[in-house]
Order: sequence, then structure tokens, then C-alpha cells
Amino acid sequence: MLVSATEMLKKAKAGHYAVGQFNINNLEWTKSILLTAEELKSPVILGVSEGAGKYMTGFKTVAAMVKAMHEELGITVPVALHLDHGTYEGCYKCIKAGFTSIMFDGSHYPFEENLAKSTELVNVAHQLGLSIECEVGSIGGEEDGVVGMGECADPNECKTIADLGVDMLAAGIGNIHGKYPANWKGLSFETLDAIQQKTGTMPLVLHGGTGIPADMIKKAISLGVSKINVNTECQLSFADATRKYIEAGKDLEGKGFDPRKLLAPGAEAIKATVKEKMELFGSVGKA
Ligand code: G3H
Ligand code: ZN
Repeated sequence: MLVSATEMLKKAKAGHYAVGQFNINNLEWTKSILLTAEELKSPVILGVSEGAGKYMTGFKTVAAMVKAMHEELGITVPVALHLDHGTYEGCYKCIKAGFTSIMFDGSHYPFEENLAKSTELVNVAHQLGLSIECEVGSIGGEEDGVVGMGECADPNECKTIADLGVDMLAAGIGNIHGKYPANWKGLSFETLDAIQQKTGTMPLVLHGGTGIPADMIKKAISLGVSKINVNTECQLSFADATRKYIEAGKDLEGKGFDPRKLLAPGAEAIKATVKEKMELFGSVGKA
């Protein structure tokens, strides 16, 4: 059975490690992530952006596929199915579709509106047993049409949102979606520290996990980050392995064009990336 992210993140915060959220795009992504989590005995969060949900036909299709695959693979580690950067409407759609966790990204609204919408959604999610993530400040760059200016979060606003009883809080601390530019200034640990002081035991979320150096990841975890989102890095690994397969002409040998063969190197590459991240985040053996 899929679970909410509440317990796994409380344990992560108390145990000073982070649970990875890996975004899914299709069957191969989902299977690779689930199998790796099971192999490493790690809890995991499957993230679904609104764009990826639409690509996979809709949130109901996603929930049905994930639930069935989770059962048929015999997965025993805790797995949450989480809406990533959800709109107000998207949150309700995912609740109805059977997701076990949602993110309401109200960071582009004036703070009072973000607060009002977050308040409502926290109450609805909790009544139904789902966990909920809200966002303050914004993540720079673009992910599936969600564009952020990258301003650092105000620690007092973080406390106001945390006090609603959210299960995890995403705060902008200089992190960026996608590849980091060469002139990136790094994470603002000063901001993260101030947020952690104000929000205490609240599990904090680091978005834009692709390409952040290992020492910064470790420092972020030591300052209260308990969930780290990774999307682009799995896409890059998948694309690279698939390109190599095609450039080597493997798709032209025998039945190499069969999608079950064509997509296999990419699926293996996703497993390797997820494994590397789980080891770095410290979630291996924590299921
Ligand atoms: O919400 C998802 C992420 O924050 C992933 O960011 O694509 O930079 O790894 P990324
Ligand atoms: Zn994100």
C-alpha cells in the first residue's frame, strides 16, 4: 500500500538524512525507481508534475499504474505518490485520483493568498490522511512550465506556513530547477539556518537537486533538509544511455529496435542515478 510522506520524513528529520523525491514520466521511470528503493531498503517519494501527469494521460492513470506496479513488484519499503508543484486545482484532482501526498505551490501568489489557499488545502489533505508540502520564496529556473524568480524565502513567512501543520516545507534558498549555471552562487546556508531556527522539527525540502555538489547536499541535510527533489538528473542519465545505444547502432542489430530493448539502457541508467542519490542522501537501509 502506498503511504503518505509524513512518517518517513519525520524519521528522516530525526535521523539526519533525507528521503529522495524522484519525478516519474512513464512506466520505465516508475519501475526503475521502485526497484532501486526496494533493493536499497530506502523509503522513496515518487513525484509527479502537472505536466508529467498530463503526459501520462491524467492523474487517475498515474495513480492506477503506480498502485498496481507497487503491488505486482512486491515493494515493501515506504512509497509515497506525491504531486509536485501543484496548482490549487491540481491538488484537488490528485486527492480525487488517489495520490497519498500533494504539494501546493502558491509561491507565485502574494503571501496572504498563498497562506489562505495553503490553509484550506492543509485541512483538506489532513482530513483525508494525505501529507502536504507548501512553498515559500521560489525556486529559480523552470520545470515543466513552472517558472520561479529564485528569491530566498523569508524565515518569518516560513514559520507562518509551517504553523499551519504542513508536513514538509519547500523554501527558496538559492536553489534552481534544471542544470545550474556556471555563475551560480551556491545555496544560501544563512537563509536555510534561519528557516530551520524558526521552524524547528519541520522537515525542509530542497528542490532542484540536480547537480548540487555533495558537500552542499550534506550541509543542507545537517541544517534540516529531509527531502531532496531530483528530476533533471534522471532525464539526463536516461537520454545519455539511450543516445549511446542508438549511436552504437544497437537498435539496428537483431531485435534491438524492440522498445523493451531500446528503453532498457535508459532504465538501467535511472537506477544508477537513483542509487547514487540515495547513498548521498543517507536513506539507504532506513526503510
Ligand atoms: O520539483 C522537482 C525538482 O525540484 C527537481 O529539480 O530537475 O533540478 O532536479 P531538478
Ligand atoms: Zn521543484
